[in-house]
This record gives sequence, C-alpha cells and structure tokens, in this order.
Amino acid sequence: MAPEVSCCFLVVLLSASCEVITSSDQMCIEKEANRIYNCENLGLSEIPDTLPNTTEFLEFSFNFLPTIQNTTFSGLINLIFLDLTRCQINWIHENAFQSHPQLSTLVLTGNPLIFVAETALNGPKSLKHLFLIQTGIFSLEFIPAHNLKNLESLHLGSNHISSIKFPKDFPTGNLKVLDFQNNVIHYLSREDMDSLKPATKLSLNFNGNDIEGIEPGAFQSMVFQSLNFGGTVNLSVIFSGLHNSTIQSLWLGTFEDTEDQDLSSSMFEGLCEISVESMNLQKHSFSSLSSATFQCFTHLQELDLTGNHLKELPPGIKGMNSLKKLVLNVNKFEQLCQINADSFPSLTHLYIKGNIKKLQLGAGCLEKLENLQKLDLSHNDIEASDCCNLQLKNLSHLQSLNLSYNEALGLRNEAFKACPQLKLLDLAFTQLHINFPQSPFQNLHLLQVLNLSHCFLDTSNQYLLAGLPNLRHLNLQGNRFQDGNIPKTNLFQMVGSLEILVLSSCDLSFIDQEAFHGLGNMIHVDLSHNNLTSSSINALSQLKGTYLSLASNSICIIPPHLLPILSQQNIINLSHNPLDCTCSNIHFLTWYKENVQKLEDFKELRWKYQHL
Ligand SMILES: *[C@@H]1O[C@H](CO)[C@@H](O)[C@H](O)[C@H]1NC(C)=O
Ligand SMILES: *[C@@H]1O[C@H](CO)[C@@H](O)[C@H](O)[C@H]1NC(C)=O
Ligand SMILES: *[C@@H]1O[C@H](CO)[C@@H](O)[C@H](O)[C@H]1NC(C)=O
Ligand SMILES: *[C@@H]1O[C@H](CO)[C@@H](O)[C@H](O)[C@H]1NC(C)=O
Ligand SMILES: *[C@@H]1O[C@H](CO)[C@@H](O)[C@H](O)[C@H]1NC(C)=O
Ligand SMILES: *[C@@H]1O[C@H](CO)[C@@H](O)[C@H](O)[C@H]1NC(C)=O
Ligand SMILES: *[C@@H]1O[C@H](CO)[C@@H](O)[C@H](O)[C@H]1NC(C)=O
Ligand SMILES: *[C@@H]1O[C@H](CO)[C@@H](O)[C@H](O)[C@H]1NC(C)=O
Ligand SMILES: *[C@@H]1O[C@H](CO)[C@@H](O)[C@H](O)[C@H]1NC(C)=O
Repeated sequence: MAPEVSCCFLVVLLSASCEVITSSDQMCIEKEANRIYNCENLGLSEIPDTLPNTTEFLEFSFNFLPTIQNTTFSGLINLIFLDLTRCQINWIHENAFQSHPQLSTLVLTGNPLIFVAETALNGPKSLKHLFLIQTGIFSLEFIPAHNLKNLESLHLGSNHISSIKFPKDFPTGNLKVLDFQNNVIHYLSREDMDSLKPATKLSLNFNGNDIEGIEPGAFQSMVFQSLNFGGTVNLSVIFSGLHNSTIQSLWLGTFEDTEDQDLSSSMFEGLCEISVESMNLQKHSFSSLSSATFQCFTHLQELDLTGNHLKELPPGIKGMNSLKKLVLNVNKFEQLCQINADSFPSLTHLYIKGNIKKLQLGAGCLEKLENLQKLDLSHNDIEASDCCNLQLKNLSHLQSLNLSYNEALGLRNEAFKACPQLKLLDLAFTQLHINFPQSPFQNLHLLQVLNLSHCFLDTSNQYLLAGLPNLRHLNLQGNRFQDGNIPKTNLFQMVGSLEILVLSSCDLSFIDQEAFHGLGNMIHVDLSHNNLTSSSINALSQLKGTYLSLASNSICIIPPHLLPILSQQNIINLSHNPLDCTCSNIHFLTWYKENVQKLEDFKELRWKYQHL
C-alpha cells in the first residue's frame, strides 16, 4: 500500500507544480526581476504601481493612454527602453519624460498624435532611438527638437511627410538611421539634403516614396552607409540625382505591385558618377540587356539581380573584376553556363536559387571562378545522373555548397573531388542515388557540416560516410533505416568526430546498444519523432553531458538501470511520450522529480494516468 500512496502523492505534486508554472493572470510579466517587464495588451490605462522603480525595460504596447502627463511615468525613474506602440496616445504634455534622464529608446508607433509639447522630450538627455511610425505626422516641424542631440535613429515610416527638410535647430549630427519609408516624398532639393550634411555614414530610407526628381548636386560629396529608393518608378532620376556621392549599399529594388519602367542601358549612365559598393535591383525587368548595360557597374563589389526575369547574362561584360558577390535568385536560366560566369572572375559568393526553370548544371560553367567560396544552387529542380566533379570543375576554393531542394543527383565515389576545401555541404531534400559501395564524400578532409536530411539514402551502406575525418554536424532527418533498426555495425563508425547528430523522423524503433560506440565527442543528439521505447536508451550509455531529445517517441516506462544514462546527460527533452504515471514507473517518477532542471519542456510532458 505504501508505495502506491507515495506514488499518488508524487503525481499530485507533479501536476500541482505544473499548474504554478502554466498559470497566467492579467498581470505584467516579469522577464527579468526588477528590470524587464511586459505589460502588453492588458487594457491598462495607467502604469501599475506594482512595477518597481528599478524597471529599465518596459513593453507597454496595446494599452490605453490617451494623454501622457509628467506624472504618467514619474514612478519609473530608471527607464531605458519604453515601448508605447498603439496606446491611442493623442497628447504628450510638457516635460512628460522629465524624470527619465536615462531613457534611450522611445517607441510611439501607431499612436494618432495630435499634440506633442515643445518640451515633451526634455528629460531624456541621451535619447538615441525614436520611433514615430504611423503617427499621422505631416511635417518634421512636429517633432520637438530640443534635447535630441544624441539621436542615432529616427523612424518616421508610414506618415504623410512630403518634405525632408529639418528645422534649422534640429540636431542631425549623430544620426545613423533615418527612415522615411512609405511617406509622400517626391522631390529632394539641395536645401533638403543640406540639413543632413552633418550626419556621416547615414542609412537613409526612402522605400515606397516614388521619388520623381532630385535637384542636381543634392547628394554632392555625401557619404552613406545605405540608401534605399525601393519602389521608385524611374531609376534615371536616382542615378543622375546621386552624382558625386559615396554609398556603401544602394537598394533600388521594386515590388510586385509597382508599375515601374523597364530598365534600359542608358538609365545606368549616371552610375558612373557615383561610388557604390553594393547594389540591389530586385524584381526589375530589363528592356534589353547587353554587355553595355554593365558599363558603369565596374566598381561594384556586390550585385543583386533577384527576380529580374533573366534568361542569360550577356557575354562579353568587361571590367567586373571587383565583383565579389553576385545574387541571381529567381530568374529564368536554363543552363548554368548562361550566366557567363567568366565575366566575374573575382567572385567569392554566388547565389542562384529558386530558378523558375529547371536548371541544367552543364559542364565546367563556373570553372573560371577559382576564388569562389560559397555557392547556393538550392531549389532549382536540378537533375544530374553523375554529379558533381564535371559540373563543379576547378572550384578548388569552394567552402560551402548548397544543393538542397533539387530533384535527383547520382553520386559516385569521390563525387566532390573538385572541391576539396568544402566545409559545408547541404543536400537536404534532394534525392541521392549512390550506386557505389564507397563514399561519395571521400576525401572531404575539411567537411564539418553535412546535411543529408530527406535524401532517400541507403543507410545500410556502412561506408557512406567514410573519409570525413572532421565531420561535426550530421543531419539524417527523414531517412529510413532497415526495419527501423540501427544495428551494431553501421555508418556512424566512420565519423568519430561527430558532435551533432540529427536522427529525427527516421522511423526508428530500435537502436543497438553499441550503435554509437566511438562517438565520444557528441554534444547534441536528436532522436525525436521516432518510435523508440526505453529499450534503446542503452545505446546512449556512451554519451555524457549531451543535449538529448527523445521527444515524440513511444517511451512509457523507464526501468531503474537506465536512469544513470539519463542522469549523465545535460538536458533531456522527453515531451510527447506516453510516459506511464503509475507505480510501475515509480523509479523514473522519483528520478524525474529530482532532475526537473534537466528536463526541457516540463509543461509539455504528457502523463498517462492509468490506474489512478
Ligand atoms: C524606489 O522604491 C523603493 C522601494 O519601493 C524606495 O525605497 C525608494 O525610495 C524608491 N526610490 C526612488 C528614487 O524613488
Ligand atoms: C507636473 O507639472 C506640473 C505643472 O504642469 C507641476 O506642478 C508638477 O510639479 C509636475 N509634476 C512633476 C512630478 O514634476
Ligand atoms: C561632381 O564633381 C565634379 C568635380 O568635383 C564637378 O565638376 C561636378 O559638377 C559635380 N557634379 C554634380 C552633379 O554635382
Ligand atoms: C526618367 O527620368 C529622366 C531623368 O530624370 C528623364 O529624362 C526621363 O524623361 C524620365 N523618363 C520617363 C519615362 O518619365
Ligand atoms: C582553374 O583554376 C586555376 C586556378 O586555380 C586557373 O589558373 C585556371 O585558369 C582555371 N582553369 C580554367 C579552365 O578556367
Ligand atoms: C540551403 O538552402 C536552403 C533553401 O534555400 C536553406 O533553407 C538552407 O538554410 C541553406 N543551407 C545553408 C547551410 O545555408
Ligand atoms: C541543413 O543543415 C544545416 C546545419 O544545421 C542548416 O544550416 C541548413 O539550413 C539545413 N538545410 C536545410 C535545407 O534545412
Ligand atoms: C511503433 O511500434 C509499435 C510496436 O513496437 C507498433 O505497433 C506501432 O505501429 C509503431 N508505430 C509507428 C508509428 O511506427
Ligand atoms: C522538445 O521537443 C519537441 C518535439 O521535437 C519540440 O516541439 C519542443 O520545442 C522541444 N522543447 C524545447 C524547449 O526545445
């Protein structure tokens, strides 16, 4: 009788502690004691006096504070960050933040501001980030400029602003980010831009304002971290308007619903007079594309032509020796050679993913790219019966190759010999046909990460992973093992350096107790979403200090002799197992109670109450 009583007691105890953790009332949530509080969406019309005056970060959005007085926040003298998004604020009175010298970020997004007192922001001496997005502002005169000399970012998106001319006394000198997206700015004059001259390396955002004109010389000798003119219909305006400026990153993409003009070669003439490092032309169309189009692109280091409806890049493009990174995602190439890669001999990063047509890899199309380090060819419906040495010929410096989400690849022995420096290889969701008993990955001495999830592999081939002395991270999710078993002799014996192993959703029902012998460096093992019972826990006896996920398996009872194996791990996820909560499992229950700190997702554990 006695054990039953204590067992029931234990169960009650467990469920009770569950309740404490899961219960939530309508109070602010303490995210870090005395410092960080979240009071979002609680229908509050004042600051609860339960918040300590030591509060530094307060998220108070979606409440109701139509007016802000000097008393509203006066109890919270240590505020550094205050988020008042959508609190229906109309009025901000004189000295509203006078007792907040340390306030550094103030978020007023989504409040229909009618009046903001001239002295409203007088208190915070070091206000750095001010968010006035969607506040109905028509003019920059509306922003109280006093005391903003430390302002680093000003967010003014989605208002009705038509002129970016700041009042004379507005301190722009420390601005790093100035965001005007989705306003109604159509013209930029020299005088407008002059008010931004004190700022250096500004990131200036005009996304979604169709700019129709820029006064010549307006950007003369200015230096920008980034400029965004997304959604501009006539790009000639931008290229001629930016003469003599220096821009690290120029974003000129457009959007599906913008009726922009096709890009012609003459539009880019102005680019020769601008110094740009990185340019994005996402989603535009070219009316005609010839090598002349690229005449003024020669100083670019990065170029993004995502979604440009490209069928090819013209041959004979000259002078693009500075280009390091080229993005050609979501275009219409039929064959890799159509990008004429030899025009870009210095490329280190090439992205061609999500091509709209089925992409043929061809032979040696990238062979001039001897400096290429990263190549992304994912989501391209690629099919190749004998991959990849001919296709990737001469890519001897390639470190990262992404061939995930393709159709089917046949791999022979040493299939990646052309790329001996590979550190990362992602083949997830690509069907692999490996017809040779040897390893296709042979001699990838530097390979650290190999993603083979959902590759329809023959996992009974114990040489599959031979020749990978530095492999640390292996993902085999979604591949099947014969009869749902990992036997004693298996493919893991070849990769003793493994640290992370993912075997989730592999339909496993049993793992031999010696299956993971020799995997002494393991720190993370994911066996979730299988059909394992406690009889496979023996296989984990070699592992120590790991993160171990056994979530969503079929574990009911864990007998006492297996508990030390769990004890020696660091964190265990046992959620979604039909754990037996009767006295037949008393040893585990007792262990459980003593080891709650090891168990992830305490709340999610589903206990099966049977004989209670
Ligand atoms: C902050 O609150 C504590 C405890 O409520 C109080 O003792 C202390 O005087 C308060 N500090 C200030 C500066 O108001
Ligand atoms: C708030 O302002 C009023 C005047 O408008 C002033 O009398 C009062 O002292 C201020 N309150 C605080 C807490 O400073
Ligand atoms: C660009 O600078 C050059 C030389 O400093 C000057 O002659 C030219 O007028 C400037 N162009 C514009 C559009 O300001
Ligand atoms: C685009 O802008 C350029 C220069 O600002 C102008 O010459 C051209 O006429 C404009 N194109 C159209 C179609 O409006
Ligand atoms: C292959 O790369 C080497 C440098 O690694 C380079 O010299 C050679 O021209 C390239 N071969 C071809 C056919 O492009
Ligand atoms: C490879 O590409 C896929 C799809 O584009 C992406 O989800 C995955 O994160 C990429 N792999 C790596 C290692 O970046
Ligand atoms: C493959 O695994 C790597 C390493 O975990 C990961 O970065 C990558 O995103 C995965 N690929 C896909 C397609 O999920
Ligand atoms: C899990 O294994 C049990 C027997 O051990 C079997 O009856 C059940 O069908 C398996 N479930 C799945 C999803 O494979
Ligand atoms: C535990 O595993 C389950 C199933 O994989 C997962 O949904 C859950 O997020 C994991 N818990 C944590 C805290 O990561």
